[in-house]
Amino acid sequence: MPGVLILLVTLIFSVSSFIYAENEKGISTVKGHATILFCGSDLDNKFSTFIWTKDNHTLEPSSRIQMQGHLLWILNTTSSDGGLYVCRSTNSTCSMEKQVFLFVEAGPCPSPDATKLALEETSITLSCAEEHVPVLGQRLQVQWWKDCMSTGIQGSEFSLFNVSMSNNGNYTCLVSFRYEDKNYTASHTFELAVIMKEPVNKPKVIQPRNQTLHVKPGVEIKLECIVFIGFGEDSVLETSAYWTINHSYTESYPELQQNLTTEMRENSGLYGNLTLFIPKVLPEFFGVPFHCNILSPSGGDTGQVWLSQDTNHIWLIIIPFLILAAVVCAVLLNFFKIDLILAYRHLCAKGKATQEGSLYNAYVLYLHGKSPGSSTAEDLALRILPGMLEQQHNLKLFIQGRDTDTEVSIARISDVLSQSKAVVLILPGNNGEENLVPLSKEQNRLEDSQLSVLFSDIAHSGVPLLLVESEENADYLLLPESIQSIIKKERVLKWKPTVQPNGRFWKQLRYHMT
Ligand SMILES: *[C@@H]1O[C@H](CO)[C@@H](O)[C@H](O)[C@H]1NC(C)=O
Ligand SMILES: *[C@@H]1O[C@H](CO)[C@@H](O)[C@H](O)[C@H]1NC(C)=O
Ligand SMILES: *[C@@H]1O[C@H](CO)[C@@H](O)[C@H](O)[C@H]1NC(C)=O
Ligand SMILES: *[C@@H]1O[C@H](CO)[C@@H](O)[C@H](O)[C@H]1NC(C)=O
Ligand SMILES: *[C@@H]1O[C@H](CO)[C@@H](O)[C@H](O)[C@H]1NC(C)=O
Ligand SMILES: *[C@@H]1O[C@H](CO)[C@@H](O)[C@H](O)[C@H]1NC(C)=O
Ligand SMILES: *[C@@H]1O[C@H](CO)[C@@H](O)[C@H](O)[C@H]1NC(C)=O
Ligand SMILES: *[C@@H]1O[C@H](CO)[C@@H](O)[C@H](O)[C@H]1NC(C)=O
Ligand SMILES: *[C@@H]1O[C@H](CO)[C@@H](O)[C@H](O)[C@H]1NC(C)=O
Ligand SMILES: *[C@@H]1O[C@H](CO)[C@@H](O)[C@H](O)[C@H]1NC(C)=O
Repeated sequence: MPGVLILLVTLIFSVSSFIYAENEKGISTVKGHATILFCGSDLDNKFSTFIWTKDNHTLEPSSRIQMQGHLLWILNTTSSDGGLYVCRSTNSTCSMEKQVFLFVEAGPCPSPDATKLALEETSITLSCAEEHVPVLGQRLQVQWWKDCMSTGIQGSEFSLFNVSMSNNGNYTCLVSFRYEDKNYTASHTFELAVIMKEPVNKPKVIQPRNQTLHVKPGVEIKLECIVFIGFGEDSVLETSAYWTINHSYTESYPELQQNLTTEMRENSGLYGNLTLFIPKVLPEFFGVPFHCNILSPSGGDTGQVWLSQDTNHIWLIIIPFLILAAVVCAVLLNFFKIDLILAYRHLCAKGKATQEGSLYNAYVLYLHGKSPGSSTAEDLALRILPGMLEQQHNLKLFIQGRDTDTEVSIARISDVLSQSKAVVLILPGNNGEENLVPLSKEQNRLEDSQLSVLFSDIAHSGVPLLLVESEENADYLLLPESIQSIIKKERVLKWKPTVQPNGRFWKQLRYHMT
């Protein structure tokens, strides 16, 4: 028996405490604002009477406090208005009580007393229209603030379209009204919580998106399409994947086969490989779109493939490449031709003990300038050429003025020429008196008559002639017509004191002599 009693008491206590908890959160208002309290009663309003009490004291209407039906206005709320409000509604048969706790805050915006939820990318409208914020007298205007800062927006309703997470916040309407020649403001705050939309896992064609394949007619191919189907093994059940040709199903080509294989990848995403086997590419397959389609209740996607006649396009790449390579080779060969030939001759010469045919690599003849004194030409012929060619490269020179003074007379020069591979003719410059290198006296100087015999021999010998310009402004007037006519442009070399021992000048010289 006592047990039952305790149970009963506990039950009653818990029920009453539940009712109290319903109103525990209370309502917020702001000092100086108008506060509106509703007596949320189930009793039929028309025949009911409402009595408001605050902290056990019955409220009487005054200039500050107004009552109409189930509504109570506190026009100019003060801090002392906070407290527990109880409204008792009575009709002829029953009576009900509701209670609410009023908090008076400093403001300027009241705290939200309810939270509105909105799904991302949907729209929502907040309303402070008459039925939600009933006022006394004349409604003047409604302003909307967000997080207690003006938005500049006015009107009973405030709409948000395509809600995003940035719309989260507290929205306050400030309703101003004019009653008995005084302006009042009522306010209400909504808390808006935007709920993030769950990502929809639409099926997707990953590959191909828009691809062109180069194939030959008649060959066998397979078109592969990689698709994302959805999450979980079961997603394939409500998905269809298929190829179309020119927007038609492939049934009209019974030889074509489609095969879908699926594969579960990371985080349970299901992927598919939809293959279209084409045993023979028909002519009508060119220039029409092949589509890989995937459809499910949550969406669809399409990838596109075009077949294009294979025009051996590989040659379009290879031919320019070959041409370029050939050009590069030609340029390189031309540039290194002399080096290559010299290297080759060097190798051959090592094989053979002696050089056959010619006794001399070159017959060297230098000319004197018009001005008196010795010249660079002479220096080149008697000192520099032998130093480089005879001592370093083991070539054999017959130098006019060095090898002639004793045994070989001018008359025998034609013999020497016939045993030479080349004639090197060194030409001085025509620069007046600036011959600064006095080397020797005039003892080796040839007579003009001897020189013309020599020139004639050279011209008739047929031995290749190398002309070396030993200075700037080479004096071609020193040469007779017969010699000038056999000068070849590629066999004219310019000597400069700056040429390197392994420079082009020496290489060309050796190239023509060996
Ligand atoms: C009083 O309110 C109760 C509850 O809503 C209702 O059933 C009853 O009919 C009302 N009485 C009259 C006279 O309206
Ligand atoms: C109101 O009166 C009841 C009893 O009638 C009492 O229990 C309660 O404490 C009072 N409340 C206030 C706030 O005075
Ligand atoms: C509200 O009351 C305060 C002082 O209690 C007063 O100064 C103010 O003028 C009143 N406002 C209105 C609109 O009555
Ligand atoms: C809604 O906004 C999102 C981005 O915030 C945008 O991607 C989407 O297209 C918008 N929808 C509409 C219907 O404007
Ligand atoms: C709305 O205001 C309440 C009380 O001031 C606060 O706790 C809450 O964080 C605010 N909500 C947002 C989304 O700012
Ligand atoms: C009350 O509001 C009206 C309309 O906005 C305005 O013309 C009037 O000046 C206001 N009166 C006071 C006392 O603020
Ligand atoms: C597909 O690619 C072709 C060329 O490769 C292009 O002309 C066509 O516009 C593309 N189509 C789409 C839908 O991107
Ligand atoms: C492709 O379809 C279009 C109509 O959708 C049709 O006019 C055209 O002839 C078709 N092409 C082939 C090659 O079947
Ligand atoms: C589809 O592919 C699977 C796996 O590669 C294979 O076992 C099956 O025979 C294929 N079906 C057809 C109709 O080609
Ligand atoms: C797709 O399937 C075909 C045959 O069914 C296979 O040859 C191909 O390798 C598969 N591709 C991928 C990316 O798995």
